[in-house]
Amino acid sequence: MNQNTISILAIDGPSGVGKGTVARVMAQKLGWHLLDSGAIYRAFALAVEARGVDIADKSALQKIAQTLDLEFKTEQGSELVSVFLEGGDVSKILRTEQTGEMASKVASVGVVRTALLKRQQDFAQAPGLVADGRDMGTVVFADAPFKVFLTASAQERAKRRLKQLQAQGTMGIMSQILAEVVARDERDCSRKNSPLKPADDALIIDTTELSIDKVIAQVSELIKA
Ligand code: C5P
Repeated sequence: MNQNTISILAIDGPSGVGKGTVARVMAQKLGWHLLDSGAIYRAFALAVEARGVDIADKSALQKIAQTLDLEFKTEQGSELVSVFLEGGDVSKILRTEQTGEMASKVASVGVVRTALLKRQQDFAQAPGLVADGRDMGTVVFADAPFKVFLTASAQERAKRRLKQLQAQGTMGIMSQILAEVVARDERDCSRKNSPLKPADDALIIDTTELSIDKVIAQVSELIKA
């Protein structure tokens, strides 16, 4: 892969900020590939849990990361992506708060991040890639020509997450979701390995008061410019 010849749009930001939606819409608009790097960390966390491995056992974590049997499948004519871990469809369990929490814990381990790096970089295929995560612009695609960092208040992000859960028919308690959002951010921002932070050359967009269409418009402007 040569990051210099493939156009890459890196979209980073904290949990619940709407990165996933913005990344999906931008990939569709541009006709580029899509990388949901959070899904890789989530699937990895599920694999660790299934094996009952202690998170302190770095060598076992590294082995699982290096051999992770993971596949993303898009149904023809649909924009829905299904995720298969060791042949089993984990798309639903992948998105739960509990899996996100586990992912955030295992994602702080340096050897895990290193082992998962190439798998993420391999998504960079012509004509381009929209990559969504925490360290797309700072580490994984540090040379990306387009970098966006989305932010929003924790309150607003918890509100969006609650709405998302309700749309899926799942109950949620605002105070609990807010506490989870804050705890996950705290862990993602304060870790030693690839902490969540904007790249120096990223366009920072505070989406607290913005509709998704406005955010898309700003990101599209960046690409046009
Ligand atoms: O984005 P998502 O909520 O799916 O990510 C789940 C967790 O995976 C995050 O809280 C973060 O700790 C981790 N992650 C990461 N680096 C990425 C993407 C996700 O550390 N590039």
